Amino acid sequence: MHIIATQVDDSIDRLRHKLDSQLQKPGYAIDPYFYRSHLVHERELEHLVFKSWLYALHISEIPHPGDYQLLDIGEDSIIVARTQDGAIKAMHNICRHRGARVCEASTGNRKTFVCPYHGWVYGLDGGLKAARETHIMPDLDKATLGLKPIRCVEFMGLVFINCDPNAGDLLAALDNIRQPLGAYDLATAKVAARRTYRMNANWKLAIENYLECYHCATSHRAYARGHTLKDLEEKSQPVVDAMLAQSEAITGIEGMSTHYTRIYNDAESFGACVHTMRYGLYEGFDTGSADGQPLAPLMGNIKAYDGGVGDYQMGPCSFMLNYPDHCVLYRFLPRSLTETDVELVWFVRGDAIEGTDYDVDKLTWLWHHTTLEDEYIIMRNNLGVNSRFFEPGPYHSEFEATLQQFIDWYLATLKKTL
Ligand code: FES
Ligand SMILES: [Fe+2]
Repeated sequence: MHIIATQVDDSIDRLRHKLDSQLQKPGYAIDPYFYRSHLVHERELEHLVFKSWLYALHISEIPHPGDYQLLDIGEDSIIVARTQDGAIKAMHNICRHRGARVCEASTGNRKTFVCPYHGWVYGLDGGLKAARETHIMPDLDKATLGLKPIRCVEFMGLVFINCDPNAGDLLAALDNIRQPLGAYDLATAKVAARRTYRMNANWKLAIENYLECYHCATSHRAYARGHTLKDLEEKSQPVVDAMLAQSEAITGIEGMSTHYTRIYNDAESFGACVHTMRYGLYEGFDTGSADGQPLAPLMGNIKAYDGGVGDYQMGPCSFMLNYPDHCVLYRFLPRSLTETDVELVWFVRGDAIEGTDYDVDKLTWLWHHTTLEDEYIIMRNNLGVNSRFFEPGPYHSEFEATLQQFIDWYLATLKKTL
């Protein structure tokens, strides 16, 4: 099922009109126009996505000099590589001669990146090392013709990139969650599994779905059995409070259940959203598994299961669900107006042995199935919002509060581009 969604009658004036009328309706889902317009999509990429901090990879995925991975965003390709001196660099996968991609395989190990077109050679840090037959061009300044660099930082083993050279300081923002995230020792953790789910839907619908649990009770039977987030606070708060009261004593981690939120319009700098909180699991559930039983050895220095799960956000499109024995990272990236890549990464302790300490199928079962359930509803949501007859309805005041923060930021950012 693939929808060709185009807004034929499109212009800056139409965008301005749609934005102004949308801003008159706070608390309501957004107009179909924002899911159908190519003009909007281009502005989203330029002013939101490519100016935001985005999770790229875990350091253990490129351990050796020359190791690299490609990251696809929209129609763009980004190289994240480890250089000879062990640093991690990110750069655009676009030759500085006439623009061919210099690297095709999505992962591997290279000494250099050689453009397939006319053979220009780039180092692992992006510097132009050689350009064939250019000795007769004495004015050619190779120093200015390296692959264009991209901002790249590492926090506890997680590598983030930002295509905006003037982006704010993500590390300063992330410092606010150092204590609770440190509990999992992600810097020494290992990636047990990683999957990309290509969804035929606009990227905002996928993020909007992630940011609310109103649908959890109806769409995610397995998840809803164990996780209190599917319920209103009036029901879940006693369970959460009981967990919070003994969280530090049971886990042995000071600040284990810290609550900190500065996201979207409240972020420290643009695209540097940071959030953490912990919510409770229902009786009988230690972790996010089919039967609530542990799936892997406890992570980091966590001493025991306290019946809690950590909820994290790092940047506008990257999230984590951290159980005491494993963590699941979610990243949403637009690929086109109607296609989104949803990436899931499962982390376990660095010294855990597959087959002995954990089983990949069991480890990934809950969030793999939950993601397939989400894909089902997101694609149907995509069909509905692309109808000329769709009239946006009101958001739920509690369940969809965070989703509204995303939409407020989204609309405010678009407004600033006009
Ligand atoms: S386009 Fe890369 S060498 Fe010409
Ligand atoms: Fe969901």
